[in-house]
Amino acid sequence: MRAVLLAASLLALLAGCSEKPAPAGVQGDPERGRIALAQHACRACHMIPGVTGSEVYVGRTLEDLGDRQYIGGKLPNNQANLVRWIRDPQAIDPGTAMPAMGVSERDAVDMSAYLLTLKK
Ligand code: HEC
Repeated sequence: MRAVLLAASLLALLAGCSEKPAPAGVQGDPERGRIALAQHACRACHMIPGVTGSEVYVGRTLEDLGDRQYIGGKLPNNQANLVRWIRDPQAIDPGTAMPAMGVSERDAVDMSAYLLTLKK
C-alpha cells in the first residue's frame, strides 16, 4: 500500500514537472492547449515545440510566440488577441493564408495559454 502511494505521488510529481505553468495573468490550461493544437492540426502549417510533426514553413514557427510583440504583424500580442486570431484570422487579416478552423473559445484560450509559454 505504501509503495502504491509512493508511486502515485512520484507520478504526480513527474507529471507536474513536465507541464509548464501558464505565464502570470494568463487564463486556461497550457497542457490541454498543447493537445488541442495537435488535434486541430495547427502543426500542418506551424512548427510548435512539444507538438510533433514534420518540418513545415507554411506559417512561421510558433517556437518564440511568447516573445513576439505582434500577431500576424497587426495585433499586439496578448491572450485576448491570440484567441481572436486563432478563432478567426480572416477577420483580422482578410489576406492571410491561415484559415478559420472552427476552434472553440475554450480550446483557443487553452492553445493561447500554451503558445504564450513558448519563448526563445
Ligand atoms: C493552412 C496553414 C495554416 C494552418 C492550418 C494554421 N495556420 Fe496559423 N498561420 C498561417 C499563416 C500563413 C499565418 C500568417 C503568417 C505567418 O505568421 O507565418 C499564420 C499565423 C499564425 C499566428 C500568428 C503568428 C505571428 O507570429 O504573427 C498564430 C498565433 C497562428 N497562426 C496560430 C495557429 C493555430 C493555433 C492554428 C491551429 C488552430 C493554426 N495557426 C493553423 C497558416 C496556418
